[in-house]
Amino acid sequence: MSVQAMGYFWVGTSKLDDWASFASGQLGLEAVDRGGAMRAFRMDDRKQRLIFDGGFADGEQFFGWEVADAADLDALAARLEKAGVAVRREPTAIADQRCAAEVISFRDPAGNRVEAFHGGQIADQLFRPGRHIGGFRTGTQGLGHAVLTVPDIDAALPFYRDLLGFQITDFMGPPVSVYFMHVNSRHHSLAIAQASHTRVHHLMMEFYSLDDVGQSYDLAQQEDRVAVKFGRHGNDFMTSFYMRTPSQFLIEHGWGGREVGPDWQPAELKSLASFWGHQGLFESLGEAPPPDAAPPPPMPAPEPNHAPLQVIEGNYERMNGVCPWWDAVKRASRPI
Ligand SMILES: [Fe+2]
Repeated sequence: MSVQAMGYFWVGTSKLDDWASFASGQLGLEAVDRGGAMRAFRMDDRKQRLIFDGGFADGEQFFGWEVADAADLDALAARLEKAGVAVRREPTAIADQRCAAEVISFRDPAGNRVEAFHGGQIADQLFRPGRHIGGFRTGTQGLGHAVLTVPDIDAALPFYRDLLGFQITDFMGPPVSVYFMHVNSRHHSLAIAQASHTRVHHLMMEFYSLDDVGQSYDLAQQEDRVAVKFGRHGNDFMTSFYMRTPSQFLIEHGWGGREVGPDWQPAELKSLASFWGHQGLFESLGEAPPPDAAPPPPMPAPEPNHAPLQVIEGNYERMNGVCPWWDAVKRASRPI
């Protein structure tokens, strides 16, 4: 009955040509011919995942959240309406445009358009990336994750948690209020953070190969697009960087995000600082301070600030030999 994954990201933009070259040349996506004032892109077996639409204004963008089937979409619509949220059953023409069987749309408490759908269409052809990459980690984890800032987090939290079914992975209270929330095994598909206005801060796309992140970093540096340097997050363990796009939001390219299981309990974070790197992240999240404002206190270092790499079968090889440090850790954690 609840949301299962981020299915698509729809971006209103007047910079269709900029996005077209950026999406294939930098991001590694495959262009799909949609015609008109739209540019659609694949990143896996789905017919489309990212869509750039000249029919929406710059700054208008929304996510399509996927549910299992028609019954679950009806149940979600009923739950929203019971809570007083106006729900529109979109016509077949919109569902066809979204490459989905059925689509509903509504607004979150910050006024953002939200879509939900079932029956995402699979392409006949294999995914052919726009540049040489090993592919994106999607499947049941959906296309990636996003961070959304909202002016009233106390209104947004119950909407996403209680109505759409997102579960809290970890969170931090004031003065930096943020909730990381999952709908599948991805550590978070959506994070909401308190800020003075609503916007998408970034969209994250995860590669199978760490080398693909590094090569994307090289390209982004050549184009002077790096907004947040290479680093490793302390909560989802993602090794990543963030780049500027033709729109106002950033895109994070990452590798090695941790998974959460059904028994996961919400955890309070002591810090949002990364294990290392990610210089520029807090500046990119922040609002412009008044000229006479004191500088913000530095974020404390995360503790502990090491974690094992999160690897997938096929993207690592075990080395021969021993590591005295790791053997000591294993001995120390062995029950007596
Ligand atoms: Fe992220």
